[in-house]
Amino acid sequence: MIFAMAGSAIGLGNIWRFPFIVGEHGGAAFVLIYILATLLISLPVFLAEVTVGRRARTSSYGAMSSLSPGKSIWKFAGILSVAIPLIIDSYYSVIGGWSLDFLLKSVTLQFVKSNPQEVTSIFGNFITSTWSPIILHLVFLGACAFIVANGIKAGIEKFSKYTIPVLFVLIVLLIYYSVSLPGASQGVKYLLKPDFSQVNARSFAYAVGQSFYSLSLGMGAIITYGSYVKKEENLMVASAGTAVSDLMFAMLAGLAIMPAVFAAGIEPGAGPGLIFQSVPFVFSTMSASHPAIGAAVSIIFFLTIVVAAMTSCISLLEVGVSFLKDRYGVSRIKGSIILFLICGAAGVLCSLSFGPLKGLTLWGMNIFDIFDWLSSNILLLVMALLTVVFTGFVLKKEDVWDEITNGGTKKFNAAIFNVVYFLIKWVTPVAIVIIFITNFIF
Ligand code: TRP
Repeated sequence: MIFAMAGSAIGLGNIWRFPFIVGEHGGAAFVLIYILATLLISLPVFLAEVTVGRRARTSSYGAMSSLSPGKSIWKFAGILSVAIPLIIDSYYSVIGGWSLDFLLKSVTLQFVKSNPQEVTSIFGNFITSTWSPIILHLVFLGACAFIVANGIKAGIEKFSKYTIPVLFVLIVLLIYYSVSLPGASQGVKYLLKPDFSQVNARSFAYAVGQSFYSLSLGMGAIITYGSYVKKEENLMVASAGTAVSDLMFAMLAGLAIMPAVFAAGIEPGAGPGLIFQSVPFVFSTMSASHPAIGAAVSIIFFLTIVVAAMTSCISLLEVGVSFLKDRYGVSRIKGSIILFLICGAAGVLCSLSFGPLKGLTLWGMNIFDIFDWLSSNILLLVMALLTVVFTGFVLKKEDVWDEITNGGTKKFNAAIFNVVYFLIKWVTPVAIVIIFITNFIF
């Protein structure tokens, strides 16, 4: 069960999003806040989501309203849990498209042939062009929608069982290589030596948002997973296991990427393109002495990224398709086409916001940033808040006890139940509200 949940959690969030968010928020101090947020806030939210899921035994749309019928707020939570994945998917598939492009570039040996200084500008040229990113986004999304339409996601999920361990091995390899580059120690310091002058009220919202995103929280995914979990499984062990492995993966990705960022002279706050600039630099330097190894590692690396992105994109689409099917009787094929059109169009706008629509900004954010910020920093927090309030105040304490301790049979869980329940009922909601509000004021 931990493997299944960690498989959903570990993805682009850890290796694409975590490093660039850390880079935008000043490094080690942010990492520290992120770790605390994961342990004190995300972990209780995770436990609340699996609890609600296993209790309700339905997917996220109907989970809360089936446990508390007649209250429209829990219906609203259900709608949020369908809307958020679709917003995320719109820009997630743009990143999927970038990964696909970099896979093609690896296969055609572009990183091997260019020298390390040239290679960092490949991304900039790609992203500012109009058509290639759009076409690749649509190809990527289309492939995912095709898989969902045909109900053949089991195939790709089987495949992804192998790619996560491969990704893990490659990341460790990258760390080894990346920290030995000249100038890399700056990057290690950046990740490990906190500078608290870089922290402000927004850092907390970004840390919590990133932590939710990375653990697939606040969008009903874990509620749905929870509904499949067997009665005898230990929810607490599964939650902690997922959170810790996800955290470790993010830290490893940071350690692989930040030293390379500094060695290549890239600005750590360069934004969503960070791994697409720094990682090719590593491959290109590697290729200078070992071209075959550089070529092979870059192909496997971007292939695993594409697969990781696909599995996430597919599960995010699946939420919308099963909603359309259960609620409106729309067939899988029609549902997939509808979602392809909606997310495809929204994604085109996100993609263009790095090129021709760059100037179109609101509060200093382009369209891509707005999609990302709205989902990760606002909606995930709202949905997570609703879930913990539901678990703490609507579900009966005995029922929560029953789920978390498996009817009292898990002695350790029973011993710390009161602390955990207190975290879910009081600490998490209050913390989320405070973080949410200060984020707007300061
Ligand atoms: N957590 C995933 C990541 O880190 C992304 C994600 C968010 C996801 N929500 C999801 C994956 C739902 C699968 C299902 O990349």
